[in-house]
Amino acid sequence: MPDGLNIAVFASGKGSNFRSLLGAIDSGTIPNTRIALLVSNNPKAGALETARDKGIPVLRISLDQFTTEEEYCSTLIEALRKDRVNFIALAGYMKKLSPRLISRYRNRIVNIHPALLPAFGGPGMYGKHVHEAVLGAGATVTGATVHFVDEDYDHGPIILQRSIPVQPSDTPETLAARVLTLEHDLYPEAIRLIAEGKVLVDAQHVTIMNSG
Ligand code: GRF
Repeated sequence: MPDGLNIAVFASGKGSNFRSLLGAIDSGTIPNTRIALLVSNNPKAGALETARDKGIPVLRISLDQFTTEEEYCSTLIEALRKDRVNFIALAGYMKKLSPRLISRYRNRIVNIHPALLPAFGGPGMYGKHVHEAVLGAGATVTGATVHFVDEDYDHGPIILQRSIPVQPSDTPETLAARVLTLEHDLYPEAIRLIAEGKVLVDAQHVTIMNSG
């Protein structure tokens, strides 16, 4: 992007992907990018503590603080506008985004999912449920996917995927840990490619320009 990425990270949980993005920005691996805001619906999210330690502004916002979804959405969009956010990275965000936000940031919202989409995605496929389903299906490979966000869960155009073998001895916990390690490389790599202007998206199709 010519103006650089001014990112809002949305996180509800531990925030390890948020930390991996921060590390890649701080080290210069992801160029021309800053994290302007951390948005969370969960007051106990580990990501909030990281943001506070790093001096990143925090917005704690959830639908139940408002009388209508419209009011909630307007407040969120206004906060993003005020901080000149031009890109959103979901990192373990447990709430569905409103269609208004998605359409305002079309092809400028990305998510990371701990499986090889379109397999093992969609409603209910989060956290350990994903890895239980992978093991239950007898899959021999799994992995992680970074994709643009559209109106359906885990559905928009895929940017990058990486796979790892499933071991016969794997439990949902061991698999989750190995996939998470993979995510910590994959998410910064995808956002680096976007920051370098190498990711072109057209409807459901993503093209990655020479990534050398
Ligand atoms: C990750 O597995 C990510 O793929 C999924 O939620 C988890 C978030 O983990 N969307 P963390 O909070 O970044 O540690």
